[in-house]
Amino acid sequence: MIKVLFVCLGNICRSPMAEAVFRDLVKKQGLEDTIQIDSAGTGSWHIGHPPHQGTKNILEKFQINADGLVARQINSEDLSKFDYIIAMDSQNQKDIEKLNKLNSKARVLRLLDFTDQHHDKDVPDPYYTGNFEQVYHLVKDGCDQLLQQIKKELRKVEE
Ligand code: 4NP
Repeated sequence: MIKVLFVCLGNICRSPMAEAVFRDLVKKQGLEDTIQIDSAGTGSWHIGHPPHQGTKNILEKFQINADGLVARQINSEDLSKFDYIIAMDSQNQKDIEKLNKLNSKARVLRLLDFTDQHHDKDVPDPYYTGNFEQVYHLVKDGCDQLLQQIKKELRKVEE
């Protein structure tokens, strides 16, 4: 089982979008029993809240299921539970690293680090920009490439 946690600041805009998009891709590939997916925020303001309406609207537009998304805050234990911790931007990545007290082996990377085509590796925050459509396309590219990477890893394990 490979465990993937998407992380942003509030866990209401970018990381739940990534969770839903990645879940959809993984399901379409029949890998839902092999890859476990979750999301969390570095901040605590939105614990227990559903995704932002902008995230809900964009997921609906692209026919991606958004059921069951509820915000939570990341904690130190997540760093030993998950194989991949996927930050949306550099600030998230720094905040996650600060929680890594046990020096766990979780790979803490930004989503767009998996892509070649985007020069700026930070996913802009639509809570401030209002541009959920732009974020969707970045998240989709990142999730496609992340899945390719994980599939390569799974093939190596099988060999
Ligand atoms: P997210 O966006 O990190 O993509 O979920 C934000 C949501 C809420 C806040 C900031 C960013 N906030 O300050 O409440």
